[in-house]
Amino acid sequence: MNKIISPRGTQDTLPPETELWQYFEEIIRSVARDFSYEEIRTPIFEHSELFQRGVGEETDIVTKEMYTFSDKGGRSITLRPEGTAPVARAFIQHNLSAQGLPQKLYYVGPMFRYERPQAGRYRQHYQFGFEALGGKEPELDVEIILLSVTIFQKLGISQFKVLLNSIGCSRCRPQFLETLKSFLRPHLLELCGDCQRRLELNPMRVLDCKNPSCQPLLDRAPSPDAYLCSECREHFQEVQRLLEAFKLDFQIEPRLVRGLDYYTRTVFEVISPELGAQNSLCGGGRYDDLIEAIGGHSTPGVGFAGGFERAILVLKEKKDLPQPRFRVFVACQGDHGDAALNITMMLRKNGIPADMLSGVKTLSAQLKHASRRGFPCVVIIGEEELKKGTVLLKDMASGEQKELPSRDLLETLKEKV
Ligand code: HAM
Repeated sequence: MNKIISPRGTQDTLPPETELWQYFEEIIRSVARDFSYEEIRTPIFEHSELFQRGVGEETDIVTKEMYTFSDKGGRSITLRPEGTAPVARAFIQHNLSAQGLPQKLYYVGPMFRYERPQAGRYRQHYQFGFEALGGKEPELDVEIILLSVTIFQKLGISQFKVLLNSIGCSRCRPQFLETLKSFLRPHLLELCGDCQRRLELNPMRVLDCKNPSCQPLLDRAPSPDAYLCSECREHFQEVQRLLEAFKLDFQIEPRLVRGLDYYTRTVFEVISPELGAQNSLCGGGRYDDLIEAIGGHSTPGVGFAGGFERAILVLKEKKDLPQPRFRVFVACQGDHGDAALNITMMLRKNGIPADMLSGVKTLSAQLKHASRRGFPCVVIIGEEELKKGTVLLKDMASGEQKELPSRDLLETLKEKV
């Protein structure tokens, strides 16, 4: 019979790599605590309309990438491709504004996009995202950017670049879009098929096109930052001033518009030179019109999300990865399974991760198992030692073995943990 394998674009994360993911998640949660963001958990699937209205009908996500299906009740359901629209939906649905603004929320979980899989791009990927809803001040944009950078710094990723732009608001953007359309129309045939369609429906998306054939023309196209109204310009300048005050290096990228339609004013990305084509570690920006667009009262917001897989790719190249957690294997000689089980349970109860292998009599087979499973330390209960009230403690890396009184075992191991 054919083997069943995981669907294209998805991956299993196996131990010991799962420990690296847990370590990453712990850093996210600790930075969230430091910045005073609280966790929100939204469903994995939502009504499709949320993303159509929130992310935008003409975005690649909505036109090509959503996992959408009808449920048994005939409703159109979509596996969430991103987390901002669901958080905004929950914010409206639970009237979170009544609890004081801004609301600062974060989430961790899988997102689904039917994209062409390649290194760093998957059909199911994990995101960590932070959203500050209900604040329009540039300080909040800066907080979000600094928060994203703090996560990568704490992970030990120091090689990254922060790209920044402002794409204006509903007041100044129409003029920019008209200028952009007037520039592009005479060159229609130089654009790819997607961009020819986008030109009239959603011209901003043309600037986001990654098709190499469009690049020469787009390099000469007008950019949104030159058409900002005075409020957007002031906001953008203040964001830059504050980032400079915090000594964060950033680069203005006039063509950075991001692939989702809800953005207004600030947009940013943190990219890694250590990644290939999919080099964006995280991306985000301000979305002052999103909440109103999906049925709430006009409420500004700003946030970002990053992908676990891409940061893990960078982390795996590093030499000083966190060591696997300390754990102990308890092995016994002869018929002393009960003694081994007692010691294993005693260690577990006292917070020392421990395991044993039942039903295997020979010590050598147990030691082989401990070595294959990567246990750094083995407690050996032998015939002689049991009589003396001692155990042997073996360091698997050096092969060194020492005898100690059983009553000292717990304290000795606690020191190692
Ligand atoms: P996004 O840029 O579409 O933004 O995704 C955020 C991050 O998720 C990317 O920078 C990348 O690291 C990762 N990512 C995206 N797609 C994939 C994929 N197919 N495979 C692997 N990793 C991927 C958003 O989703 C917005 N909701 C971010 C945001 C939050 N804006 C404001 N608040």
